[in-house]
Amino acid sequence: MSNPVHVLGFSGSLRKGSYNAALLAAAADLLPEGMTLETFDLSPIPLYNDDVRAEGYPESARVFRERITASDALLIVTPEYNFSIPGVLKNALDWASRPPDPPLKGKPAALMGASTGIFGTGRAQLHLRHVCVYTNMLPVNKPEVLVARAQEKFDGQGRLMDENTRGFVRELLTVLAEWTLRLRC
Ligand SMILES: Cc1cc2nc3c(=O)[nH]c(=O)nc-3n(C[C@H](O)[C@H](O)[C@H](O)COP(=O)(O)O)c2cc1C
Repeated sequence: MSNPVHVLGFSGSLRKGSYNAALLAAAADLLPEGMTLETFDLSPIPLYNDDVRAEGYPESARVFRERITASDALLIVTPEYNFSIPGVLKNALDWASRPPDPPLKGKPAALMGASTGIFGTGRAQLHLRHVCVYTNMLPVNKPEVLVARAQEKFDGQGRLMDENTRGFVRELLTVLAEWTLRLRC
């Protein structure tokens, strides 16, 4: 691939032993040729306040927006909290959705997530797709990477051990690379 696809990845869980952070780390090992992955920690981003935004973006939100702009595509990794996406993730996307030049607009994206339940973040990912519509992101539809019963798929060090899941993540990244290159034309 002559023009590499640079992906910005972030996880909606802030906890140390997060399965979603571990899933993002696994993606770094499964990148197709010509794709690079940079990860972004959402924890310093403050709660959205439009009065604050009107005065100027806080530094962490400004850097988040800048890293999105500098990327070719996004890899958004979401836990499921109460059938939806965590406030941490929604909050970060809200900061990235506002003018000038909203960086999410027209950005190719791939979604995935891990939960300890049996539905593997399917409901959260559907809500995330709603957010993609209003922000005009361009998420790939398939494959869906829904990591159910995450506690059985990762080892004690947070390594993704399940071969089927590794295959789905690899396929998602390959599709994201193809999709991003298609949209570049
Ligand atoms: C506030 C909260 C709400 C949750 N709601 C759901 C849910 O709706 N569906 C589900 O499958 N798991 C739910 N869980 C369990 C999460 O799947 C589990 O805590 C998972 O490990 C979170 O992701 P993480 O490991 O990346 O932090 C919830 C957990 C928390 C803390």
